[in-house]
Amino acid sequence: MTAGKLTTLENRAIAHGLNVSDGHPRMPLTRGQRAIVAELGDLFDEAAKRPFHEIEQEAQRAFLHGLGQHGAPVGGERLLSCYSSSVAMDIVARTLAERTGSVALIHPTFDNIPDLLLARGLDLVPVAERRFEEGLADLPPEVGAVFVTTPNNPTGWVLGSGPLERLASWCAETGRILAMDTCFRGQDVRAQYDTYRILDDSGAEWVVIEDTGKLWPMLELKAGFLAWGERTELEIAEAFDDVLLSVSPLVLLLITRLARDASDGGYAELARLLEGNRRALGEITGPAGLVMKEPDSRISVAQLELPESCGTATEFYIRLLEHNVHVLPCEAFHWARNSDGGRDVRVALARAPEEVRAAATALAEVSARTRADERR
Ligand SMILES: Cc1ncc(COP(=O)(O)O)c(C=O)c1O
Repeated sequence: MTAGKLTTLENRAIAHGLNVSDGHPRMPLTRGQRAIVAELGDLFDEAAKRPFHEIEQEAQRAFLHGLGQHGAPVGGERLLSCYSSSVAMDIVARTLAERTGSVALIHPTFDNIPDLLLARGLDLVPVAERRFEEGLADLPPEVGAVFVTTPNNPTGWVLGSGPLERLASWCAETGRILAMDTCFRGQDVRAQYDTYRILDDSGAEWVVIEDTGKLWPMLELKAGFLAWGERTELEIAEAFDDVLLSVSPLVLLLITRLARDASDGGYAELARLLEGNRRALGEITGPAGLVMKEPDSRISVAQLELPESCGTATEFYIRLLEHNVHVLPCEAFHWARNSDGGRDVRVALARAPEEVRAAATALAEVSARTRADERR
């Protein structure tokens, strides 16, 4: 049995209890962010006055250039702002379905990615992370697109620049579209090489989804950016027009300010928070037999492997709920073979350190109690 869709479980956690479930940032504002929030009234007036496209380009430039993405098509017709990265994803899924019947998708990954592709009638072929590095020569010929999440959720795995060059060239040679979700890029400098330059140089048809929503605790004031290449023949602009006119210029102004603050030390501050929370989680849960699966990950979630005595991830998740602590059981990330995630739980790290420590203590206690019960 699995517990259900990941977002359904995340919603339960929003309702009550200690929420280390969803990957949205929920830590206290930094000093710099608080000062920006204090300016909201002035930003509102500015948003009402200035031309929208000027505000939008400024936000896209500040965000993407701040993350090393100087080749991104800022200022052209091939970069759109969406309410969220999931809206961008749905647009991509729809346009891919107009072009092909089958997509090769990274496995595991956050389950709303396969779900949105499946909802558009696409067949999915699971591809393990390392295979994006080794080559995909054995993909069935009917696969018309390759979709990779990097950094990947929940593992934190990053596709390096060399492997991306090879993958993109192979997509160009074989006429496949390369689609990327880089929503967690802001948390890992290893993902901040200029992806767009590589994609453009490759000659491939490509599409990239970026996200401001994983970085700053802004109560869901965020945007997803959807970019595509000169050669990309998907009807993205048309699909976008069916969904929205534009995101709020107030949100875009906020993004500009936050991106500048982040480049000015905010990204380093976030990395320190995540590193400290990851370390504390490992130190508190390790003695209870939980193993940090990817200690080298830099993203705002961590996977813990449970000792055998804890049963399946979903069983452990339900036991934790009795203590009002919400994590995510990892079965659903493994969208093609749920059982592959059956021993792992995911803990969100973009939280106040005391929240992560409290959750870690509960995890350790529940694990220890389960082992003691077993010995009896
Ligand atoms: C890799 C990845 N991309 C996209 C999303 C969707 O983000 P949002 O809920 O802000 O649309 C998620 C959600 O956690 C995710 O993990």
